[in-house]
Amino acid sequence: MKTSGNTVLITGGATGIGFALAAALSNQGNEVIICGRREEKLSEAKEKLPGISIRTCDISQQAEIESLFDWVTSNFPGINVLVNNAGMQRAIDFRKGVEDLIKNEDEINVNLKAQIYLAAYFVPVFSRRQTESAIINVSSGLAFVPLAKFPIYCATKAAIHSFTISLRHQLRVTPIRVFEVIPPTVYDTELKGKPLQKSDWTVSSYEVADAVMKGLKNNDYEISLGAAKNWINGSKNELEIAFNNMNR
Ligand SMILES: NC(=O)c1ccc[n+]([C@@H]2O[C@H](COP(=O)([O-])OP(=O)(O)OC[C@H]3O[C@@H](n4cnc5c(N)ncnc54)[C@H](OP(=O)(O)O)[C@@H]3O)[C@@H](O)[C@H]2O)c1
Repeated sequence: MKTSGNTVLITGGATGIGFALAAALSNQGNEVIICGRREEKLSEAKEKLPGISIRTCDISQQAEIESLFDWVTSNFPGINVLVNNAGMQRAIDFRKGVEDLIKNEDEINVNLKAQIYLAAYFVPVFSRRQTESAIINVSSGLAFVPLAKFPIYCATKAAIHSFTISLRHQLRVTPIRVFEVIPPTVYDTELKGKPLQKSDWTVSSYEVADAVMKGLKNNDYEISLGAAKNWINGSKNELEIAFNNMNR
């Protein structure tokens, strides 16, 4: 699809992969709107990319998803791309029963339910477009090879992978293209609380954004890089070996 002249909403666009994507899309002549919970992070992003628009929103709340949708469609009637990027990752130890589940924010709402609802809100709007439009869901290599320390996170990403396949199939008769971005571990984001060390098995958020821009241009519907690229086509045996290596 074309990678300029779009109007793009990126959830969680103030930091990490979302911000790198906001920068890449903005530099290529797209109108970019980002949202997130923290106003200061959104303002910092706007200082770096003055052309973008920002909106505070907690997508774990249904009412806030609705008001985000209303605000975006009223203020940016040409909106034609949704990037479902916002996400969170929590360590959950089931040997403690419900203790970790209760004290942590609900990953299912943010990583899965919100993406599904946002897609559902925007599909009818995008269907009416004369030009092509897109829904871009960010999953993870962990959708294919779980890291057992983050069981709910991995389950939500596997669910997003499955949901994206079904959505793409349902929308094949519309002008809406449905992409999945499948990054490996990204070292320079806030997902794990602090940036990780750069290593052979990690990539930067800018490498992910670069792969997304190329993938969109080539209509490569499953955009992956690094280790995740091997995993999406891995055999059961290869995925088992990767699982055992990662969960040692
Ligand atoms: N980092 C990795 O290794 C990796 C690998 C594969 C896939 N991914 C995926 O990439 C996506 C982006 O993550 P990232 O690595 O770039 O981490 P990040 O820097 O932490 O970005 C996540 C963004 O989501 C926003 N967010 C979280 N909860 C939200 C909520 N309830 N409502 C609205 N916004 C919310 C955060 O902003 P606020 O806190 O201000 O709301 C933040 O800007 C996620 O879906 C993640 O699962 C990451």
